[in-house]
Order: sequence, then C-alpha cells, then structure tokens
Amino acid sequence: MNLVLLGPPGAGKGTQAKRLAAELGLAHLATGDILRDAVRRQTALGRQAEAYMKAGELVPDKLLIDLVRGRLENGAAESGFILDGFPRTIPQAEALREMLGELQIPLHRVILLRVSDEEVVRRLSGRWYCPVCQAGYNYPMHLPKVEGRCDHDGAELQRRADDDETVVRNRLEVYKRQTEPIVDFYRRESLLVEVDGEQSPDEVFAALLKLASEKAGT
Ligand code: AP5
Repeated sequence: MNLVLLGPPGAGKGTQAKRLAAELGLAHLATGDILRDAVRRQTALGRQAEAYMKAGELVPDKLLIDLVRGRLENGAAESGFILDGFPRTIPQAEALREMLGELQIPLHRVILLRVSDEEVVRRLSGRWYCPVCQAGYNYPMHLPKVEGRCDHDGAELQRRADDDETVVRNRLEVYKRQTEPIVDFYRRESLLVEVDGEQSPDEVFAALLKLASEKAGT
C-alpha cells in the first residue's frame, strides 16, 4: 500500500501517518521531520533549508525531489510507504509521478485531511514537543503530567519555531497558493479521497484505516 497524506499545516498528517505506518507496517516518509533533523545536524541540506522553514516558506523543489528520489531508490518503498509533506507543489507532484513510473511503483491513494484555518491556528498554538525523544503534547488536549516537562525523560518541552502564529498564517497562505493546486491534480488522476480531519484523532484514524483496507481489498 502506497499512500500520500495531504492537508494544511496542523491537519494531523504526522499524527495519523505515524499510527497508520505502525499499524500497516509501512515506511513513514515525512519530509518536514527529515528537514528538521538536517537543520539540527547542520548538514548541507539543513543549512539550505533553515531560513525557508523558519519563515514558513517552502524549501526549493529540487532539494525535496532529490531527497525523496534518494529515499525511494534506496528501498524505502519496499514494504509500502506513506508520504507525509510531499508532494507540496505541482512540480513535486509531477516529479513523484515520474519517479514512481521509473521505479514501477504504484501510488494507491492520495488522502486529503480537511481542517479549517481556525482549527489549524488553535492546534499549532498548543503544540509542544520533547527535543530529546520527540514525543508530542498539545495544550489542552494532551497535557504532560508535569507542566512543561516530558513524561518520558523530564526534558523541558519546546515549541517549533514555525508554530509562531504569524508564521502559521503564512504557512496557511503558502499551502493555499502552492499546495492546494495538487488537490485537483490528484482528483484528475482519480486518486484523491477526502477525510474530515476535524474529527477526534481516533475517528480520523478509523476512517483512514477503512480507506486503506478498502483499497487493499480491490
Ligand atoms: P511539515 O513538518 O511537513 O509541516 P506541515 O505540513 O506544516 O505540518 P505540521 O507538521 O505542522 O502538521 P501535521 O499535519 O503533521 O499535524 P500534526 O499531526 O503534527 O513541514 C515543515 C516545513 O518544512 C514546511 O513549512 C517547509 O518549509 C518544509 N517542507 C517540508 N516538506 C516540504 C516539501 N515537500 N517542499 C518544500 N518544503 C517542505 O498535528 C498538529 C497538532 O494537532 C498536534 O499537536 C496534534 O497533537 C494535534 N492534532 C492532530 N490531530 C488532531 C485531531 N484530530 N484533533 C485535535 N488535535 C489534533
């Protein structure tokens, strides 16, 4: 099963992709996570991506296309995959179609998680994470046992630099301008299905699992 999860910032792509990947034994390829790790380690990719990410802008297509191509060519797709955060522009969607064609890997579904702008701002202004184990928290939905400390290792929780409200508003604009056009791209390819991302995390997960099992049965 090879899936793309689409949706605005904060739609729940990462939350659901992790869970689905574990449940279905798929590789979870999250370009935002890969880029944040590259920034932390100050690799060449990280140094090129950092300023774009801080401002909530997209990192240039070529860097992302080369990154995903490298992962797919190196066997990340062997047991199936969930792409989370890629593609994000028409050139990225076209490049993905081309690379999957060359590698003879089918894309089964593109799932759009629909969430309103107000809900995005609410979720991202409450998002905290542990810099040591990467566990996620959300005020007030998922609180740590001790205020500001990770339940697993006691580390001080942090916020993502791009979760500042002004940057979130820019990320939403960028999503509408550069990423929403790929919704129609995939609709034309008859790959798109939509899920209401404002349901509870468990309800969204159940809807995604149902879609994945329907596809597996076809
Ligand atoms: P990336 O990390 O991909 O960020 P994003 O798409 O903006 O998405 P988020 O990670 O903010 O949200 P999410 O949808 O994963 O939601 P989550 O599950 O965390 O990209 C970051 C940056 O990297 C980009 O801005 C860009 O600069 C660069 N980049 C990455 N890929 C790129 C590409 N292909 N091309 C160019 N540049 C690229 O959930 C959010 C919060 O909501 C959490 O706290 C969670 O607990 C909570 N939550 C989740 N589900 C629910 C629910 N159902 N109800 C209530 N709360 C929920």
